[in-house]
Amino acid sequence: MSDLFKDILKDSESLFKNEVALDPEFTPKIIPFRESENQYVATCIKPLFQKRNGKNLIIHGLPGIGKTLATKNVLKELEEETDDIVPVYINCWKKNSTYQIILEFCKALDYKFTQNKRTDELISIVVEKLNRTSSVLIFDEIDKIQELDILYNLIENLYRKTIILITNEQDWLFGLDQRIRSRLMPDQIEFKPYTLEETKEILKQRINYAFHTNTISSEDLEKIASSTFNSKDLRAGLFLLRESAEIAESLSSKTIDSEHVDKAISKISNFQKPVELDEDEKLILDLVKTNPNKLTPELYEIYKKNNGFKSERTFQRKIKSLEKSKLIKVDEIENIQGRSFKIKPLNEF
Ligand SMILES: Nc1ncnc2c1ncn2[C@@H]1O[C@H](COP(=O)(O)OP(=O)(O)OP(=O)(O)O)[C@@H](O)[C@H]1O
Ligand SMILES: [Mg+2]
Repeated sequence: MSDLFKDILKDSESLFKNEVALDPEFTPKIIPFRESENQYVATCIKPLFQKRNGKNLIIHGLPGIGKTLATKNVLKELEEETDDIVPVYINCWKKNSTYQIILEFCKALDYKFTQNKRTDELISIVVEKLNRTSSVLIFDEIDKIQELDILYNLIENLYRKTIILITNEQDWLFGLDQRIRSRLMPDQIEFKPYTLEETKEILKQRINYAFHTNTISSEDLEKIASSTFNSKDLRAGLFLLRESAEIAESLSSKTIDSEHVDKAISKISNFQKPVELDEDEKLILDLVKTNPNKLTPELYEIYKKNNGFKSERTFQRKIKSLEKSKLIKVDEIENIQGRSFKIKPLNEF
């Protein structure tokens, strides 16, 4: 590094200009490479501008490829464009019961008198309010929703709406109640993973937000981009950038060098698929595939019947490690008995 920079960057200064830009929740102003997808979403909404019913849409694609970002961006543009279409965004991972979701709707509609009202009363109020105008309703992570009656109600009772469902699971729709499916009749659009070049461009944009100029060389960016491209998840790239920078800072370096990047990459390989699974993990993974959506104790019983002889505790540890390797998905469910966990295979890609 030149002396000039050494002088400018005093010891106390961070190499981050704006660390927040590496948060997965950060919203960049420009969202490249999703123009045609955005256009598609806009087309589904378009009839609402003419006071006609909109088209419903199901968006699917792998994790970390801009589904949430791009859709939220459409909502933002819609809000800037018109007051005649009400946008509501719900994350069904965070809010997964009918009551929680309807409260979100009340909040979005600025309706405050929710206390002492039953869920069905609140649904009627929300429907009545939404029917005064048109609405675009986004249910993100829809596969996490625990009760479908809210969806049924809105599809059935709203006159002018576009309902957008977002999921990682391409075939989620097929498992859905026929009554909902036939009323929803959604268009489908798949978000494809970014190419290597696109991945690089997106990360470059984040680097410009996050770091001072010349903090990272183009070779190192190349390395991070290619590792991100292999995982197909942009969050991996954001993690690598932040991790490399933190390693650099911990070594009092004012630039990110290739050894910092290598160290960060070796960390991330921990949550990519392990090359080898042990016999028990292989057995459990097979059982999850043949018996999807079982609760942990049920799966443990199946495991024992199939000659698994490890303790329940070891079994749970194996489940955790398969989840960490992104080979299975463990969904937390809350019901009257308390918390339990449902296990299913993650689509292989
Ligand atoms: N085209 C893009 N330009 C800039 N940043 C992007 C782009 N696409 C994705 N990102 C960033 O990558 C991260 C993951 O994107 P997002 O949260 O939209 O993924 P997702 O497809 O909704 O994933 P999941 O299915 O896991 O919810 C976010 O930080 C987002 O800002
Ligand atoms: Mg998302």
